[in-house]
Amino acid sequence: MGGLSSLSLDTLCSRLNHYNAFMKLPGIISYLAALLLLISLLEPTLLLQARFTSNAPDIIKSGYEKFKDRPFVVRRFDADITILPHKYVAELCSAPASKLSAVKVQVANLVHRWTYSSFLEHSDLHFRVVERNLVPELPKYICVAKQEMEHAWLTCVPKPKDWTEVDIQHVVRTIVAQMSSRILIGLPTCRSPRWLDLALSFPADVNTTAFTLRASPPWLHPIVARLIPARYRMKRKIDLAKKMMKPLIDKWSGEKGKGKHEKDCTLLDWMMNNGDEKETRLGEMATRQCLLTLASIHTTSMATAHALFDLCSHPEWFSILEGEIDNTLKDLGPLDTEEGAREWLSRLEKMDSFLVESQRLHPPILLSPQREATVPLTLKDGTHIPKGCRIAWAVSSHLNEPHVTPNPEIFDPMRSYRKRYSSSDQWNKHLAGQTSADNLVFGYGRLACPGRAFAVAEVKVLLAKFLTEFHFKLPKGKNRLECKSADEIVFPDPNAKIMMKTKLG
Ligand code: HEM
Repeated sequence: MGGLSSLSLDTLCSRLNHYNAFMKLPGIISYLAALLLLISLLEPTLLLQARFTSNAPDIIKSGYEKFKDRPFVVRRFDADITILPHKYVAELCSAPASKLSAVKVQVANLVHRWTYSSFLEHSDLHFRVVERNLVPELPKYICVAKQEMEHAWLTCVPKPKDWTEVDIQHVVRTIVAQMSSRILIGLPTCRSPRWLDLALSFPADVNTTAFTLRASPPWLHPIVARLIPARYRMKRKIDLAKKMMKPLIDKWSGEKGKGKHEKDCTLLDWMMNNGDEKETRLGEMATRQCLLTLASIHTTSMATAHALFDLCSHPEWFSILEGEIDNTLKDLGPLDTEEGAREWLSRLEKMDSFLVESQRLHPPILLSPQREATVPLTLKDGTHIPKGCRIAWAVSSHLNEPHVTPNPEIFDPMRSYRKRYSSSDQWNKHLAGQTSADNLVFGYGRLACPGRAFAVAEVKVLLAKFLTEFHFKLPKGKNRLECKSADEIVFPDPNAKIMMKTKLG
């Protein structure tokens, strides 16, 4: 990896100083020199930015290895991102959101003006609903989601008697879309093929639109935005969401949530009960629901798919996880009561540890958390972060440091399990979905992913069902799942398939 792929802060500053020095030269020479410098600055910048688009994993890794305990900058088309050493995670992530903003990053990543998401600048209702409703009532919601999984299972999952190649990523995504939609908007809309199509395809349309816009200069956005077909598809889907949600919102307004059995309440009901006048308007609510599909469906289904592929690459773990599921079923019966849900899920502790290891190898976002300084900040050791600076941490590179994960090249899915059992005070640590300064897969601090506990529970429920009913293996000639990347986002090769056959005869 060439040295130009990442720039240290020092390098950037020295380039700007050179520029200032040139400007002190007299007359025409000064202009010519500045022009030359500008050309020399622009060309590598464009190249660096283009390389980041397709090669971010290598660029981040080589920058991390080169600069270790010093900040360095990676250049994305739309933003320079300063990657900080991990020693700053706790100090910075405890800074108030008014100084270090996650929202500014989120709306910039979405190129909000052109993706109908500007309302996120003034409303965090989608975050609050997950944090204050979904998570405290996790047992209720996971039972509801599990019921929905059983329903989706009948139509979405092939049941081949002989080994058959299956697009498992699509299968998992479809089930997760239905499970998530059940808790978001409830029955019967969550089963409507039109809604499910929307929930499955909206994320790809937003990502394509935002990705294309980020690659073009902001002054061209008014033109480029109008040329992106995915943006028109987004608009049509938001209109469809409005149409499908109008009767639900009208019904809620009529009843004000009263008379509805608590079991049937959805995240939409909570948002209608707790949002302000603007937040509960149809247009904003429909767009918010679409954006929640973006936050919840693909991340969770990718984690499930990765776990299945990791099992296929290390098949000796099938029997261990299957044994744990069998014992849990024998001791506790199926997961269908709210009262028993927490125990059921926490019994799957080997699976939990397996998920932590799988996520270590496949974090979906390589730069996390990402924040923007809204004021100049000076850290305890004197490091200065200028206003407007986008900062982030290199999740994967740090997790794979030998002092964080000994022998990181080895797939060892019982690492967390062993750490938990190493002493009684570690018992509640090292669990999937927990964040720490070393493990930033779900972000960090007050603004870390609010849906992580639900995501882990959903993945466990799905894996338990898949492993009870099917045998899996990789197609001939494959020994692991290839991944692709777009900027700092990493995802499984969309064409990767799995071989499966039913155990049920
Ligand atoms: C394996 C699955 C998931 C992963 C890896 C993941 C990862 C993340 C990460 C890295 C962040 C940024 C955190 C930060 O800046 O500190 C985030 C934010 C967020 N996540 Fe998750 N997440 C997952 C599942 C979910 C689920 C199931 C939900 C909802 C039910 C959810 C809802 C959110 C929300 C609302 C945010 C705030 C920002 C936004 O709207 O995107 N996530 N997630």
